[in-house]
Amino acid sequence: MPSQSKFEGIDFSQIPVERLTPDILNLGQGFRCLRGEFVTYWKQGRIKREADAHICHCWAIRSTESLAGYITLLADKLQVENPILAEEGVKYQTFPAVKIGLLAVDRRAKGAGRHLVEWAIEYVVSEIVPVVGVRFVTVDALYDRDVEPAYDASGFYTKLGFDFADPHESLPPEVPYRTMYFDLKPVIELFNPQPPRAESD
Ligand SMILES: CC(C)(COP(=O)(O)OP(=O)(O)OC[C@H]1O[C@@H](n2cnc3c(N)ncnc32)[C@H](O)[C@@H]1OP(=O)(O)O)[C@@H](O)C(=O)NCCC(=O)NCCS
Repeated sequence: MPSQSKFEGIDFSQIPVERLTPDILNLGQGFRCLRGEFVTYWKQGRIKREADAHICHCWAIRSTESLAGYITLLADKLQVENPILAEEGVKYQTFPAVKIGLLAVDRRAKGAGRHLVEWAIEYVVSEIVPVVGVRFVTVDALYDRDVEPAYDASGFYTKLGFDFADPHESLPPEVPYRTMYFDLKPVIELFNPQPPRAESD
């Protein structure tokens, strides 16, 4: 009989996302990720080092005292080919953003990736948007051409509503990632509905 996964049956959308603590850092022992480098980042101290240096902040989810996944966030600037906010009268091609730096989940923790990204979007809208101008969440979606078939994380972000910063980029990309962005405006409006305008307006 196949052994049951330790994350079997867990609804990750209900698990709280926690800020990195020394306690959580100790949980990585049995962490198994599709991409081994993300296990190394956790276990060899890269994330703690960068968080201590204020280069990112890290949040994680755990279940039954095992690390299920983590995400880091940092400040970014989105650069696009087209003035994507021209219809709003804003003709810039660079915009303030918050970036997903590293994102990784245990390969047995299905749904944990979506939960971490959706949590990050809500967190940025509720905690950062009210105090600092920020319109987009960005990510450099990993694209590894050196494995067969190529590893492409962009499909995951597309499912969550992200678009490509350069939709005409040729594949494989020149760098091992494709930059993507998520427009926060619809979520901002959902959280802060505009009061109905008076008839005389
Ligand atoms: C990318 C990653 C975080 C996704 O997490 P996950 O928990 O497996 O994703 P979810 O189960 O929440 O998936 C949400 C949806 O995206 C889909 N999906 C996941 N990875 C995908 C991929 N690489 N391409 C296309 N679709 C993908 C899932 O099938 C699911 O679709 P559904 O809603 O129709 O069922 C995870 O695979 C991972 O840790 N990968 C290794 C590290 C990595 O690539 N990090 C991202 C670097 S930018």
